[in-house]
Amino acid sequence: MAFEDKIKELLGKRELAKLGGGQKRIDAQHKKGKLTARERIDLLLDEGSFEEFDMFVTHRCTDFGLEKKQPYSDGVVTGYGTIDGRLVYVFSQDFTVFGGSLSMAYAEKICKVMDKAMKMGAPVIGLNDSGGARIQEGVNSLAGYAEIFQRNIMASGVIPQISGIFGPCAGGAVYSPALTDFTIMSKENSYMFVTGPKVVKTVTGEVVTEQELGGAKSHSSKSGVTHFVSDNEEEGIMLIRKIISFLPQNNLEEPPPAPCDDPIDRLDDNLNVFIPDNPNKPYDVKDIIHSVVDYGEFLEVHQNYAPNIVVGLAHFNGTSVGIVANQPNYLAGVLDINASRKAARFVRFCDAFNIPLVTLVDVPGFLPGTTQEYGGIIIQGAKLLYAYGEATVPKVTIILRKAYGGAYCVMSSKHLRGDLNYAWPTAEIAVMGPKGAIEVLQSKELKNIDNEEEREKFIVEQEKDYVEKFATPYNAAKYGYIDDVIEPRNTRFRVIRALQSLATKKELNPPKKHSNLPL
Ligand code: HXC
Repeated sequence: MAFEDKIKELLGKRELAKLGGGQKRIDAQHKKGKLTARERIDLLLDEGSFEEFDMFVTHRCTDFGLEKKQPYSDGVVTGYGTIDGRLVYVFSQDFTVFGGSLSMAYAEKICKVMDKAMKMGAPVIGLNDSGGARIQEGVNSLAGYAEIFQRNIMASGVIPQISGIFGPCAGGAVYSPALTDFTIMSKENSYMFVTGPKVVKTVTGEVVTEQELGGAKSHSSKSGVTHFVSDNEEEGIMLIRKIISFLPQNNLEEPPPAPCDDPIDRLDDNLNVFIPDNPNKPYDVKDIIHSVVDYGEFLEVHQNYAPNIVVGLAHFNGTSVGIVANQPNYLAGVLDINASRKAARFVRFCDAFNIPLVTLVDVPGFLPGTTQEYGGIIIQGAKLLYAYGEATVPKVTIILRKAYGGAYCVMSSKHLRGDLNYAWPTAEIAVMGPKGAIEVLQSKELKNIDNEEEREKFIVEQEKDYVEKFATPYNAAKYGYIDDVIEPRNTRFRVIRALQSLATKKELNPPKKHSNLPL
């Protein structure tokens, strides 16, 4: 074959590979409002940066007539490129080829990019759109999944792993995204479940739609499986780029500094009058977050799940930080099972990737009741306690208002190796709220007061005394548990100074095989 013909052959093969399952199936994909695997990669990566691997890989199945259908790439597009000039590895499942179903060759392609990502210390991003295990491949397909899971596990805490779900993701296939750090689902067309509606109906008799069972709405608010929901695929892919901008390439690097012209000493006088006089009046802690971080920009994680705690990423003077904040606007900011799990996972993520933690505390305690106790609030709450206590990244804590009981200990207290612990003058640090305390401390006296009005009057009087003594930051400051009581309007500056002073922090946990986190 002449040299030119060889080039022609190569280009022809490339064109063929790029068509995946063919134009008809690409049109069908578009008709559903979905992008193709390659279009997604083009959107995700810096223009022209994509280098593809294994374009000419085909499956090796010879059953069910599959030997006659051998499309190039075998249903997954893999390779590397850059996001804002930084290296990332990517795989994008191609629904136009056998419904994006996974064969052994396909799994090997994914494993190759994961291995390279680990070797190079770069994030790996998976874009999922697949009918699951390729049925014709039998156990080879299951083996392929397990090979991917093993790599997800080894990569966990070493390189960031992000999953976009832009189509079906069912059966055991769900476990790869579940093992990654962040999952994004688009509102349309995406769903995740271990068993689909038909099996659910057979086994439990429940009638449920795909979206009700495993759509973005269910997983963002009920199960917490997905961290982000996007209105469409384009927005979801842009979100992945945004997340990457906060993260280091791997656990041995620092997150990249972001440019910052927002003055570090920008005061917000509103914060000095922000906390309501009535200790039971709610407010939106996100107003405080927006006020203090660079340009007011906050990327909230798990926005619709356990809204009684807020977690997310932001910058302080260009430094990436993870923010954890109790949310008085929802259930008074109480810690319950879901809030504890949500925050624990986030704290551990930040710690794994050298992202300092800034914690804003206004918490009345743990949620009481049988639902919580039977659901294991003891274990679930311990997860958050454990996560904070184990974390060695810089930890800056600000108590805004309530820090009661066990929740005081848990929320990045000095005793869990909090590095700089501040309080606003509005802080109330105590074993419990005034009313509860009086009911315990004065129970004998209260028993002797029959008249309801007198009883209330007695409690109010006693409360005053208690509030003066304990519901202030100064008692904790007296013992050095609070490093300083700060003016609220000065919070941004104080946090930035704190983070600057902690930039060289080195703290190591004792060597061990791994911890025995309460699961
Ligand atoms: C082989 C598959 C396939 C699969 C879809 N296709 N899923 N081929 N293995 N798992 C093929 C279809 O036969 C069809 O081929 C093409 O992909 C497009 O599929 P459609 O059904 O026409 O598309 P749509 O109507 O959009 O429905 C998509 C779907 C559906 C909901 C994903 O295809 C489906 O239910 N697939 C099976 C899902 C499933 O049960 N997977 C196994 C899960 S168990 P043609 O040539 O006809 O166009 C699992 C275990 C993993 O994954 C365990 C890991 C530990």
